[in-house]
Amino acid sequence: MLKKIVLAYSGGLDTSVCVRWLNDAYGYEVVTLTVDVGQGVDLEAARAKALQIGACEVSVIDAREEFLRDFAFRALKANALYEGKYPLASALSRPLIARLLVETAERVGAEAIAHGCTGKGNDQVRFDVSAAALGPHLKVVAPLREWAMSREQAIDYAAEHGIPVPAQKESPYSIDANLWGRSIECGALEDPWREPPEDVWLLTRDPADCPDRPTYVEISFEQGLPVALDGKAMEPIELVSELNRVAGEQGVGRIDHIENRLVGIKSREVYEAPAATVLMVAHRDLEDLTLERETAHFKRIISDKYAELLYYGLWYSPLREALDAFVDQTQVNVTGTVRVKMHRGQMMIVGRKSPYSLYDLSLATYDTGDGYNHAAAAGFIELWGLPVRTCAKVQSARQTRPEVPTGKGGAR
Ligand code: ARG
Repeated sequence: MLKKIVLAYSGGLDTSVCVRWLNDAYGYEVVTLTVDVGQGVDLEAARAKALQIGACEVSVIDAREEFLRDFAFRALKANALYEGKYPLASALSRPLIARLLVETAERVGAEAIAHGCTGKGNDQVRFDVSAAALGPHLKVVAPLREWAMSREQAIDYAAEHGIPVPAQKESPYSIDANLWGRSIECGALEDPWREPPEDVWLLTRDPADCPDRPTYVEISFEQGLPVALDGKAMEPIELVSELNRVAGEQGVGRIDHIENRLVGIKSREVYEAPAATVLMVAHRDLEDLTLERETAHFKRIISDKYAELLYYGLWYSPLREALDAFVDQTQVNVTGTVRVKMHRGQMMIVGRKSPYSLYDLSLATYDTGDGYNHAAAAGFIELWGLPVRTCAKVQSARQTRPEVPTGKGGAR
């Protein structure tokens, strides 16, 4: 009996070639696993295609809800943006897909799992390290890392082996998508000086063609999690899909990023993440209202670390769990509503409120009703500035003294 392997299968040309190749070159019986994270491809077609190419079993799992709840929304609570720009859509889906690969391998009695990543990207790291954490007994095979085939070679191989090649000219870009965002690489984008051509965008309208009037949306959060739009309670999938639509209509969520990959390459990445962009800014604004200063400042350090760890494929690590515990503790009062104004590619928070707001009008106001103790300010500043005052005194005393020795010595 042939040994089994479970392949993460997207339905595209590369992973289709992998199905046959794992069979021919490695002697495996191939079980495909297609995970729906909201990438918007025809999953039934992918299922049929995998069977046609020769998969011995085909599994399709809808993981959209789990993806948002257990992965994307954790990153949201942490305000995780890699290098301050990338909402980590692809990076967040990999540990989930890896876990489902491992679970499927256990279910079907496979000895290995496989993915279609090349040797140049971050995704291979995320799959391999996640698999190492969850199923250290499993082998991981990455056919495209071992045979870095060109597009022409892939098409030739497909033709020779009866693998259907898409009739229409395939996109010149490498695209990965889910509900948290799309990533677009390759082709014209490899020239960092060149503006992304219009055909890279799918979710966002060209700002020049946006509606004349701005769109307002009110986003409600409970303990850091988005729960309603314009007062209407929504489950994660509906909320994120709807926000992708309304923000995308106003051209919000386009990102052009010169990025440092973990494998050492600097690359030009284009992202489209309307919902993630808006949620991230809105969430941070609600934190501005509800977190006390020192927690807010400390959390910024955590955000960068969290994003980096996620980008580096360390989701299943003790540090991520520890950081999540910290982040969750900070979110207990991050409840309230944020009003967002979006227009022609721009967004701005124009209102926020919370039952736990730390904004105290009697402290902030310059009008009547001022409850702030002005007299206390002078004493506070006296002590706050004491170290600086002390330094300055020593400094000015020194300037009246003879010159400081230079240490050069020698004859006078
Ligand atoms: N640079 C991003 C990351 O490392 C996106 C990679 C997505 N993959 C792709 N084939 N477009 O997370």
